[in-house]
Amino acid sequence: MKKAVTLVLAALLVFSLAACGGGTSSSSSAAAGSTPASTPESTPASTPDSTVSISDEAPGGDDTATTLVLGTSADYPPFEFHILDGGEDKIVGFEVGLAYEIAADQNAELQIVDMNFDNLLSLLAKGDCDFVIAAMEATDERLEAATASDPYYTDLPAMMLVKKENLDNYATFSDFDGKTVGAQSGTTKADLIPETMPGATPLLMASVVDLVNNLVYDKCDALVLDGAVALQYAAANEELAVIEAPELALGDALPYSVWVALGDPKGLLPAINDTIARVLEDGTMDTLIADADALSSQALEG
Ligand code: ARG
Repeated sequence: MKKAVTLVLAALLVFSLAACGGGTSSSSSAAAGSTPASTPESTPASTPDSTVSISDEAPGGDDTATTLVLGTSADYPPFEFHILDGGEDKIVGFEVGLAYEIAADQNAELQIVDMNFDNLLSLLAKGDCDFVIAAMEATDERLEAATASDPYYTDLPAMMLVKKENLDNYATFSDFDGKTVGAQSGTTKADLIPETMPGATPLLMASVVDLVNNLVYDKCDALVLDGAVALQYAAANEELAVIEAPELALGDALPYSVWVALGDPKGLLPAINDTIARVLEDGTMDTLIADADALSSQALEG
């Protein structure tokens, strides 16, 4: 299973390098911190959707019985993120661990396809991946486009990430009037910007890594992220902090689900729900969370 992941990553790297004209910016090297913030226009560089095209063994072929393809957006520590392990770019995280458990319970090899969050459900519908795990909340809109597993986790409420030096400037939502507030395209957090800060200009980008870079380089004033992710980026970057003002509470998150194509045409859901029940009951989930938290400080990001 490691080989399949490596294969995807190697191809992703080749694609990224090609996409950047042989330059130094790829989804993995964008992490180094020295990479300048990218503009919204250049966003897709980090997670080219065409990574899916390299998975010859994708479902629909003869390998369906032995390979399960996970679609995720690996810009989201501690849930799914890239690390360098002995010089090798790897996708790890609490939800990647859950995906390996799901595959192992079905005696299947896991293949990971890393793509933009807002394309995940359409690629799932096309059959380019078998299931999606991406800190994806079970909203009514998504439930019309795909089928959700039993919930396995509910995150902290959404939080706002800002430069530590600006922390005192924000006490109420109107303090964001005229400010630029970023969120990941297609997420529930992006919806919160017009709902709570109508005076702010939204900056929607495909990659959270790019958003964090934009915050670090003062191209935007704040980001709206899932709570655990905001805390993780604040812990990993001493220039950043999470706003704690009670007036700026953004409301509870919905539970996260594993997603399969609408109506579960491949019949994967019963086994996925069995694995979820098992890992919640036997303590595996707690171990996966603890392991991911420990690795999060190594997440490749800005
Ligand atoms: N929880 C949010 C949502 O459901 C954001 C998830 C983003 N996930 C990611 N892997 N980048 O919309």
